[in-house]
Amino acid sequence: KKKRKTKIPNLMEEDELQKSEQRTNWDGRRLVKYQGFWCPLPFFRLVLSAQKHFKAKASDLILSSLPKSGTTWLKALTFSLANRNIYPNIDTQSPLLTSNPHKVVPFLELNLYLNQENPDLENQEFSTTRIFATHVPFDALPSSISKSECKIIYICRNPLDQFISFRHFSLQNKFGEEDHHAGPLELDGAFDMFCDGVHPFGPFSEHMIGYWDAHLKNADKVLFLKYEDLKDDIALHVRKIAEFMGCPFSLEEEERGLVEKISRVCSFDNLKNLEVNKNGYSVNGIVKNSSYFRKGEVGDWANYLTPAMAERMEKVIKSKLQGSGLTL
Ligand code: A3P
Repeated sequence: KKKRKTKIPNLMEEDELQKSEQRTNWDGRRLVKYQGFWCPLPFFRLVLSAQKHFKAKASDLILSSLPKSGTTWLKALTFSLANRNIYPNIDTQSPLLTSNPHKVVPFLELNLYLNQENPDLENQEFSTTRIFATHVPFDALPSSISKSECKIIYICRNPLDQFISFRHFSLQNKFGEEDHHAGPLELDGAFDMFCDGVHPFGPFSEHMIGYWDAHLKNADKVLFLKYEDLKDDIALHVRKIAEFMGCPFSLEEEERGLVEKISRVCSFDNLKNLEVNKNGYSVNGIVKNSSYFRKGEVGDWANYLTPAMAERMEKVIKSKLQGSGLTL
């Protein structure tokens, strides 16, 4: 006789939820304040599972960011760098030509711990190096990440652009619709929440400062990148990321133009126009692949936000980042 499966309530999760402050994001999704950051409710259990079970190895690479800061780009770049010996002819062989970057590099808390409390992460489908992405702040990373010698690459972006990018992304994917029948807040209300730091994985300032401080303490462990800098000079950053990952370009690779090839394959225009990224869904079938590639520009916020809003943000940034040494 088959035993019926009963769902065992996760006591830790229940307990944490009881204690936690909750808010509704402008898009209607519930946010839970956990370890100082606003965790979207659907990911809360996954964050706890990753914290409890994830065992980092010295050879792992962790990519971290706030949503809409250049995660997809960073996934494509690091994946291409790590696997360049397996797919030497990147123009024709790269799995990125047929798979969305989020498929080849999974998120810890959004994908891997979804169906199992403690999944086997020994082998990744496409990659030799285990590369994992996360949106949680530095202090909320699974403790094995700071204890092991694995490396972390963080990417941040001008908060105004990140906010506008997230606004489009959430509305396009209709994230809040299930929970929120009144419809999303207007731009002004959403911006108020964002300035107050109430947004998925925010406050943004604490998120950035956490990784910035970790980078200052140990630059060999944490590389701190800015989206705008990559836009400014991608070849320089491809070399920088390769060096940080411990796989700098050889003279032969330089002569073959591999830096430029990787930059080109991972570029916004190339990825956006691939069939695989025009269709289909990723991240558990809820996010349109196409929604990861909108404009890919610096300063698009100016088409949506007023100078007064930008001024307000500038003040927030100034007061929050004061004394940290980080400038945006
Ligand atoms: P926009 O909405 O401003 O266009 P994330 O990858 O963290 O979800 O961030 C998505 C943002 O990065 C979107 O910004 C998207 O267009 C942009 N983006 C995606 N792939 C990119 C790439 N290869 N190069 C530059 N920007 C990219």
